Amino acid sequence: MSHDQDSPVHDSVEPREAARPFKIDVSDRVKRLPAYLFARINQVKYEKRRAGIDVIDLGMGNPSDAPADIVVEKLAEAARDPKNHGYAPATGLMSLRREVAAKYLKQWGVRLDPERETIVTLGSKEGFSHMCLALLGPGDTAIVPAPSYPAHLYGVYLASANAVTLDVMDSERYLSNIAYACQHLWPKPKLVILNYPHNPTTVTIEPQFYVDVVKLAKKYGFMVISDLAYADVTFDGYKTPSFLAAPGAKDVGVEFTTMSKGYNMAGWRVGFCVGNAEMVRALATIKGYYDYGMFTPIQIAAIVALRHTDAQVEAQAKVYQRRRDVLVDGLNRLGWNLTPPRASMFVWAKIPEPWASKMGSLEFATKLLEEGNVAVSPGAGFGEAGEGYLRLALVENENRLRQAVRCIGKCLEQAAAKKQARKVAKSG
Ligand SMILES: Cc1ncc(COP(=O)(O)O)c(C=O)c1O
Repeated sequence: MSHDQDSPVHDSVEPREAARPFKIDVSDRVKRLPAYLFARINQVKYEKRRAGIDVIDLGMGNPSDAPADIVVEKLAEAARDPKNHGYAPATGLMSLRREVAAKYLKQWGVRLDPERETIVTLGSKEGFSHMCLALLGPGDTAIVPAPSYPAHLYGVYLASANAVTLDVMDSERYLSNIAYACQHLWPKPKLVILNYPHNPTTVTIEPQFYVDVVKLAKKYGFMVISDLAYADVTFDGYKTPSFLAAPGAKDVGVEFTTMSKGYNMAGWRVGFCVGNAEMVRALATIKGYYDYGMFTPIQIAAIVALRHTDAQVEAQAKVYQRRRDVLVDGLNRLGWNLTPPRASMFVWAKIPEPWASKMGSLEFATKLLEEGNVAVSPGAGFGEAGEGYLRLALVENENRLRQAVRCIGKCLEQAAAKKQARKVAKSG
């Protein structure tokens, strides 16, 4: 190889070498993440929409209603103030953290020190994943509910730790399986993840469950993260308990809440982590290296939301409850045999026969989209334990949900009729 002594070294690359594609070798951390299961569904959805076809989208738990007016007005007002455009404190405005502490006291009777026991996160998902990074490392094990909200599983994997998934459907069994895992696994699980009301299954629990969790945590020495994302979306008088209301909970764990669901502020990215001071401090340390905190006007508007919009949050839960009734009643009229959930933004539906024995949830969901123009999440997207189920998000209005039921009914009727015709043709 020869090159002009005066030219920079990078000019000396042989043309053949320069033409060879440079290999970008991403980390094992990224390689460990599975291929995106919903790619096919999203592609079909995109193509249909481009062709002008109306798709009823019950796929993602993305709230479609607006936050309260006073919250949006406060955001605009705060954004007009030049003082509010610099970096904010990484752990959140103290007045917002005080407001969260006040909500815990009012709603669950839990006393929190805003300074040591609360932190603001950029949505609860960011906070959860960084908390996994703060608590776990190679060789550590966390217990994760199955089927799994993907961030619960991949938050653990991204922290280079191992996950043991345990069936979440029966909460008593979840507890006894945790105890069994603690007795038989080595190293013992370091962290247990709880999520009630559970996404995707909608399973809920009573306060005694958390009392038992704390006892187990103390007995076996594991930490707890409770993800209470659906705290504000409960039905029929059910009030979801907080893990932190169990005696001694603060000794062993933290809880995440969010303004995404009940407050219709999903895009704003406002979440909270509260509870054990050491865990909160570890999260603050990690976050201090990753981000500079949340846009101040958002925090100011979030304070207004927490302080003044209880009535709207309650009304929004009623909206979800009515949508639940429309969807569950409608699908049950088609013979689906669903029990109405008492919380969350979802219906977790067992795929009815004869479809369940003929196809997996991904294929069935794709069929509903391709032939019925209704998008839902296949249970398999939440891991093997979700196979045989669909998750339908209550994010379209009641009329659209009625329309979805009609479309699903028609699509399955036509598919059954086609099959019958093929059978007749074959036998004839
Ligand atoms: C169980 C659960 N946890 C956390 C989140 C994320 O919420 P956030 O918008 O606060 O990040 C969701 C959103 O769907 C969820 O279902």
